[in-house]
Amino acid sequence: MKVLLIGATGNLGLRLVASLLTHNHSVVAYVRSSTKLESLLPESVFRQITVVQGNATDAAAIKRAILDAGCDAVVNTAGVAAVAPWAKTDLPVIFRAVVDGVREAGEERKRPLRVWFLAGLGVLHYPGSEVMLSSYMPIFLAHRTNHALLASLPPNTLNWSMLCPSTMTPEAADMTVPTPPSKSGKLIASATTPPAWQDSGMNAGRYDTTLEQNAEFIAGDLAGGEASQWSGKAVGVISEGK
Ligand SMILES: NC(=O)c1ccc[n+]([C@@H]2O[C@H](COP(=O)([O-])OP(=O)(O)OC[C@H]3O[C@@H](n4cnc5c(N)ncnc54)[C@H](OP(=O)(O)O)[C@@H]3O)[C@@H](O)[C@H]2O)c1
Ligand SMILES: *[C@@H]1O[C@H](CO)[C@@H](O)[C@H](O)[C@H]1NC(C)=O
Ligand SMILES: *[C@@H]1O[C@H](CO)[C@@H](O)[C@H](O)[C@H]1NC(C)=O
Ligand SMILES: *[C@@H]1O[C@H](CO)[C@@H](O)[C@H](O)[C@H]1NC(C)=O
Repeated sequence: MKVLLIGATGNLGLRLVASLLTHNHSVVAYVRSSTKLESLLPESVFRQITVVQGNATDAAAIKRAILDAGCDAVVNTAGVAAVAPWAKTDLPVIFRAVVDGVREAGEERKRPLRVWFLAGLGVLHYPGSEVMLSSYMPIFLAHRTNHALLASLPPNTLNWSMLCPSTMTPEAADMTVPTPPSKSGKLIASATTPPAWQDSGMNAGRYDTTLEQNAEFIAGDLAGGEASQWSGKAVGVISEGK
């Protein structure tokens, strides 16, 4: 697919450039600074992508970038959720702008786009309940606001999925294409609740994954085209074997 990657200079965004190229997607990176992105990628990788400069709070520019390049999919990794409920974050403003831009582009091309958003573990439900984990531990609450926005959209406006990882750490500092297989294995995923939940003992650390694993997960899902089992879902992930 042709993928607009918003936030390509970030921790996850950089790994997504490499994973998307490895899966033979075309990458259009939407970033505030092309120079910054160029400085963070090997020259051989930077040469394989198209760059559009813009602000992730600018819905009209996002719409234009999608339509000008003819993208069929979008991944948004721009904006970061704050830990504390009272801390300031521009993630909800960015998130709304991306939703609006992508929705309007879908209307204009008469077909909704496939979109991956990022959230966190707290958006997932405690297994067997309708209660989000962030009700027990109220951190990173911007993700809840964002999920509520997606859930409120009329059908057939966005073909969205929301990846809900816990802490993600890097495996390597350099981006290579093709990407090597992850040292931590593949991710196992489930919709709405965390996969492989254990009611006894400590669950928290079990859901730590790597940036490379999550990038591979999204790029692999988009390789299936528009038919994804994760469409319209919040998706929990865990490393295989955990
Ligand atoms: N890292 C984790 O452990 C973790 C765990 C769960 C969920 N998440 C979520 O995953 C997402 C990505 O995380 P990350 O670690 O990759 O974040 P990150 O490294 O901080 O990257 C954030 C990206 O957002 C871009 N950005 C911020 N404001 C922007 C704006 N107005 N216009 C355009 N771009 C803008 C930044 O671009 P510049 O380079 O221009 O500043 C940067 O590329 C976040 O939403 C985070 O909350 C992260
Ligand atoms: C990507 O394309 C190359 C060259 O055509 C091919 O060898 C490779 O198998 C493709 N990769 C995937 C994941 O489809
Ligand atoms: C991006 O937009 C926000 C609000 O819309 C603004 O505060 C910020 O200065 C803009 N950043 C750039 C680099 O244009
Ligand atoms: C969205 O994706 C689902 C499965 O991933 C697909 O069946 C459906 O046709 C898509 N919806 C639209 C409106 O494109």
